[in-house]
Amino acid sequence: MQPDRSVQAPGGSAYGTHYAAWRADPRGWWEKAAERIDWHRRWDQVFTPESGPWGAWFAGAEMNTAVNYLDRHVAAGAGARTALIWDSPVSGQVRHISYQELLDRTARFAGALAALGVRRGDRVVIYMPMVPEAAVAMLACARIGAIHSVVFGGFAAPELAARIEDARPTVIVCASCGIEPGRVVAYKPLLDQALALATHQPAACVILQRPMLEAALLLGRDHDFEAVTAAAAPADPVMVAATDPLYILYTSGTTGKPKGIVRDNGGHAVALANSIATIYGLQAGDVMWTASDVGWVVGHSYIVYAPLLAGLTSVMYEGKPVGTPDAGAFWRVIAQHKVKLLFTAPTALRAIKQQDPQGAHVARHDISSLEALFLAGERCDPPTATWIGGLLGRPVVDHWWQTETGWAITAGFRGYGLFASKPGSGGRPCPGHDLQVLDDHGAVQPAGTQGHLAVRLPLPPGCAPTLWQDDAGFSRAYLEDFPGWYRTGDGGMIDADGDVWVMGRTDDIINVAGHRLSTGAMEEVLASHADVAECAVVGAHDEIKGQAPLGLVVLKSGVTRDHDAIAAELVGLVRERIGPVAALRRVLVVARLPKTRSGKILRASIRRMADGQAANAPATIEDPAVLGEIAAALGKGQT
Ligand code: COA
Ligand code: AMP
Repeated sequence: MQPDRSVQAPGGSAYGTHYAAWRADPRGWWEKAAERIDWHRRWDQVFTPESGPWGAWFAGAEMNTAVNYLDRHVAAGAGARTALIWDSPVSGQVRHISYQELLDRTARFAGALAALGVRRGDRVVIYMPMVPEAAVAMLACARIGAIHSVVFGGFAAPELAARIEDARPTVIVCASCGIEPGRVVAYKPLLDQALALATHQPAACVILQRPMLEAALLLGRDHDFEAVTAAAAPADPVMVAATDPLYILYTSGTTGKPKGIVRDNGGHAVALANSIATIYGLQAGDVMWTASDVGWVVGHSYIVYAPLLAGLTSVMYEGKPVGTPDAGAFWRVIAQHKVKLLFTAPTALRAIKQQDPQGAHVARHDISSLEALFLAGERCDPPTATWIGGLLGRPVVDHWWQTETGWAITAGFRGYGLFASKPGSGGRPCPGHDLQVLDDHGAVQPAGTQGHLAVRLPLPPGCAPTLWQDDAGFSRAYLEDFPGWYRTGDGGMIDADGDVWVMGRTDDIINVAGHRLSTGAMEEVLASHADVAECAVVGAHDEIKGQAPLGLVVLKSGVTRDHDAIAAELVGLVRERIGPVAALRRVLVVARLPKTRSGKILRASIRRMADGQAANAPATIEDPAVLGEIAAALGKGQT
């Protein structure tokens, strides 16, 4: 038997008391948290261990997500309160949408989906930019018990097609276009291309026509968003099982095939309501701004769901941290909408810092409403955390989470009076997570030791119960390496104070400008090029984006074409197949890749060399001379 050297969350603060209370009675703790939700029927059992890959929360309970997020605020007399502020510098618009209006639009659009044949349990793919109609479509699905799957707009047609193929939607909701600084991105042709690639075809597509670029509609298949909404009767909410899926969100795994992360209705609502009170410390009427995208989990949870559940006002921003129009954009939005809490990704702050290192723009705006800054998406490097903390004079809380968990694993807790994290640390484990560091054999490690970050099962409510129609895949990806634990795929350590340091992925996933991407998926694209014999993609350090993909390719023998031309084709191919968001801008042609004697490519060595460090290649390297060749290629930019 291993001695239990697990790291205990320290007591002494309100946080310690709450964490200890959860540990003492995890089920009772979550039952109490569940009081924040309106249930149509209460659960038979708060937690059912034998259900699915690791168990299910609130089995037997029935509720409706949209009712909890909209109807109940209107019923309580808060219909006039602003639910969403849409601030779109790229289209020059600001719109305030009240809870009553959002409820009316959602109920009508739900009616429109029902009229197009969408029933409880059917899937609806949503491929839209940051427009309020994306939130309407998500909530409308929730209202009738349909399962939405939002696809980020920066993905190209083949990625959209892969998601359509897996989710098999009855309806697809799309916008005619998105707006990126300096260009209008035509979404509808990407949808048409995706449908030409997919074998599954939806019964209908609903297109939001934006005035900047209207789309041609296909007679019989495509419908105008506004027209179907206007023609529809509002749909009544459909009560669903707490354990029914609310959404599927595809995220990068270690292979080219994205993983369909499932979120349930009941546990999700409980976890989010709990998080708003305890982590973010916000109350009904407060303004929260999550500067992310509805295509990512952060956008699902903290642009749409959690703020509405708690009766907050949520800012939905269609713009960038810089360039729309300048590096003061964030401070302008905070001042204009009296934002109390900003949640963004460190990469956005680095982009601002690069253009406005002295923070001159901050002084031009009245940001007195701001109380705290929360960060996630990637680890915030200490210099950026210190810079922004000093500039704003507000607590900066880095908190760590994943698409799989849907809310934070570690955080600072405004609701428990313990919040600003040590720069570089992700804070402390949220009650609900027994987080430990394991070695390669699954043994729990003492404080201060680096290893695999893992959560002892069961996971708390809100975490993915499974992958879409793939229980075995879920177990393989997360549960089998360390039986009894959820393997996060992140490495790091827990220090003697109980603070968690998340230092990076232990697999082939990289984080580019807060976007989670698979190097394996990019390698598959590079390898499909006719001239490429083999390749490796690694995440190299990038000053702004945190990481940027770097491709190394070995050409087939006999290929004599210009290397720069091939590299440019490969960059274009990744953009075309995965999307601009993959941001693979650098591909080097090399003679050989460094490998072990058993033929494993030494990606970690390549990454270290790209970052200017020693390769630290293992003794099993096949031929150490390759390292010199790679160093020369990296130095020259091309062979
Ligand atoms: N639709 C279409 N294209 C998109 C897109 C979308 N929704 N989002 C990004 N793209 C495109 C961009 O236009 C860009 O294209 P380009 O190569 O033609 O310039 C490409 O994808 C890469 O975009 P991005 O990674 O955003 O880089 P950028 O240089 O345009 O901007 C930042 C850098 C840091 C300003 C930006 O990435 C940012 O704001 N990041 C925050 C990320 C975030 O919120 N993550 C969520 C986790 S909390
Ligand atoms: P995603 O699923 O897109 O939210 O990406 C999840 C991954 O992003 C995690 O597994 C981490 O690698 C990384 N990540 C997110 N937030 C943090 C954070 N606060 N600190 C360190 N890494 C983070």
